[in-house]
Amino acid sequence: MLTNILITGAGSGIGCALAIAYARSGVNLFLCGRDLQKLQATKSLCEELGATVFLEVLDVADEQATKNWIEKIEDIDLVIANAGVSAGTAGGTESFAQVKKIFTTNLDGVLHVIHPAIEKMKQKESGQIALISSLAGFRGLPSSPAYSASKAAVRVYGEALRGNLSRFGIKVNVVCPGYVKTPMTDVNDFYMPFLMSAEKCAQIIKCGLARNKARIAFPFLLYFVLWFVTLLSPTITDPIFSRLPGKKSF
Ligand SMILES: NC(=O)c1ccc[n+]([C@@H]2O[C@H](COP(=O)([O-])OP(=O)(O)OC[C@H]3O[C@@H](n4cnc5c(N)ncnc54)[C@H](OP(=O)(O)O)[C@@H]3O)[C@@H](O)[C@H]2O)c1
Repeated sequence: MLTNILITGAGSGIGCALAIAYARSGVNLFLCGRDLQKLQATKSLCEELGATVFLEVLDVADEQATKNWIEKIEDIDLVIANAGVSAGTAGGTESFAQVKKIFTTNLDGVLHVIHPAIEKMKQKESGQIALISSLAGFRGLPSSPAYSASKAAVRVYGEALRGNLSRFGIKVNVVCPGYVKTPMTDVNDFYMPFLMSAEKCAQIIKCGLARNKARIAFPFLLYFVLWFVTLLSPTITDPIFSRLPGKKSF
């Protein structure tokens, strides 16, 4: 039974919905984010459902602070590396500062969280690690090059880790959502097909993790289209992708 669950970026969106989805009596939730007020709101909701909640104000880009936080937690059954940022080209190009921020948070931030956790899990020969990637990680998107590349790296790294860590009794799952209604997508001024609520997204993730699915990718139709597109030559797909609307830059 999952008793000790750690979720990064739990102050809003998918992270907050996941905390609520797992909250019940007997569960300890270790939640982090940079904004204490947002974390406290999540904490209150989870405590109402009976969970014990421990908050950490933390920037996952800070390797040492993240390591210190995870090392001081006695036992962890499930880590959900969810914290992330997103920005696009807004019809232009990405600044190097934006590219660095996206990679530092979405890739380094995930590595900073999961590696100290893997060390703990190896000792007890059990544990589960969920990495939040994205359907955007299946194909480099001209409208958000750094975001799609950071999510591709997380997806491929997670897939490889799954095979590598299974011998230590550690499960690894890669989560690839499509469009989910959260503060991250609220800024988008273009049509988002199959947009779903954060609550529904959290339920799909929880269900997939309980079944130890290697890849939790949804909604199915959007996943299928993207998967199919990766089979086609870029000569065919480039003109389509370069016409997609650009997300705002930071
Ligand atoms: N929404 C979608 O359509 C969608 C689709 C696919 C994948 N995803 C992924 O799902 C994850 C959650 O996104 P969301 O949609 O729920 O967006 P969100 O509401 O903006 O949540 C992102 C969370 O990450 C935290 N965060 C950001 N940078 C951080 C940092 N450096 N250190 C610690 N925490 C940080 C933020 O909290 P603070 O501001 O308090 O730090 C925030 O609570 C992201 O990895 C995102 O890429 C989202």
